[in-house]
Amino acid sequence: MTVSDRASRGEYEDRGGPAIEDYLNEVLDCDWTPVARIVSDDVQGIESALIELCDQEHCSLVVTTGGTGPAKRDVTPEATEAICEKMMPGFGELMRKVSLDHVPTAILSRQTAGIRGRSLIVNLPGKPSAIAECLDAVFPAIPYCVDLIE
Ligand code: MTE
Repeated sequence: MTVSDRASRGEYEDRGGPAIEDYLNEVLDCDWTPVARIVSDDVQGIESALIELCDQEHCSLVVTTGGTGPAKRDVTPEATEAICEKMMPGFGELMRKVSLDHVPTAILSRQTAGIRGRSLIVNLPGKPSAIAECLDAVFPAIPYCVDLIE
């Protein structure tokens, strides 16, 4: 799920969503069906899209990209926390730590993760390059986490 005002208005090509799909195609060794969404940086819109992906689409894993920084309209972590039953702060901690090897601005991301029902939601920063940088670090824990919440 791409969170971006400009991508949602079509002013900017969404590169994050396809990068997430490519990454998961490489690492997943099961059949899976990607469900893509592009939403603006609006807290209620993000919450509604997350709820739909978890409760209606029954996604085991929801990966968001964008809206994790300090700017006024960056509210993806707030929307994630609002709709999750349980937060998984270790994901954000580890992703920030490994991201510092790539960019000194890694601490500007407030990315987090949490669980709603049988879905694990993981926030990534909006830069397409951040997708592999972050998922390489946390992916080893994702299938086990999804198994534990089933
Ligand atoms: N983490 C990685 N791995 N790679 C990046 O390029 N960009 C940083 C940070 N974390 C970055 C990163 C920057 S510059 C910002 S402002 C924050 O993520 C938040 O980005 P977002 O608002 O697009 O989510």
